[in-house]
Amino acid sequence: MRKKIIAGNWKMNKTAAEAAALIAGIKKEIEGVTTVEVVVCPPFTDLKDAAAACAGSSVMLGAQNVHWEASGAFTGEISAAMLKDLCVTHVIIGHSERRQYFGETDATVNKRTKAALAAGLTPIVCVGETLEERDGGQMESVVVRQTKLGLADLGADLAKIVVAYEPVWAIGTGRTASPEQAQQVHALIRRTLAEIGGVAVADTIRIQYGGSMKPDNAKELMSQPDIDGGLIGGAALKADSFAAIIKAGV
Ligand code: PGA
Repeated sequence: MRKKIIAGNWKMNKTAAEAAALIAGIKKEIEGVTTVEVVVCPPFTDLKDAAAACAGSSVMLGAQNVHWEASGAFTGEISAAMLKDLCVTHVIIGHSERRQYFGETDATVNKRTKAALAAGLTPIVCVGETLEERDGGQMESVVVRQTKLGLADLGADLAKIVVAYEPVWAIGTGRTASPEQAQQVHALIRRTLAEIGGVAVADTIRIQYGGSMKPDNAKELMSQPDIDGGLIGGAALKADSFAAIIKAGV
């Protein structure tokens, strides 16, 4: 049985004080929830205060990116050790906004994933097709390629990752994939994971859905056999809507 994992991707939102207040609100709303893994991923500048706000609760802390080098002349970058030092346990890698606006490629996704794993962080590796790719009949090839290249050569560490399927056309658009559409791609990702690491490992890996997941569609999406949680953008910025999604995963 895979434990559901709900992560909030706050993107470039919230100051440190706002982050602490949001986490306090989330903690209050989800008191007693133990069967879902809950992660919040604020901007880097919030992590220290966010870690203090998460302390003593089951809410875990994630970052939104990590560099693959341990240290050095990489202006503007953050290493895995720096994240570990701030009590970060998870890190989003290869989000479509990074691929679209910041030159992220399958090769850099792979490097970041390896660096995160080497430091003991849990990578949340994002894959997903654009609308143009879906309409052009390329959804399968894009998702399989991103999965295979992003997760290449991880060895036994493959079992430690989380995958997020985020169709780009559903992110921030209010246009969610239907549960059937999402399930079809999640099953494809799991078959691809089985090709890489074997069926037994693939069966243990959590695959989140992301893209306009809201309190009113979360339960139906997460009731699909291969949907093991969500990566939530807009609805993660308010304690009540984020908590409602978490409770839909119980
Ligand atoms: P959304 O974003 O929930 O606002 O669509 C999801 C994401 O980009 O991770």
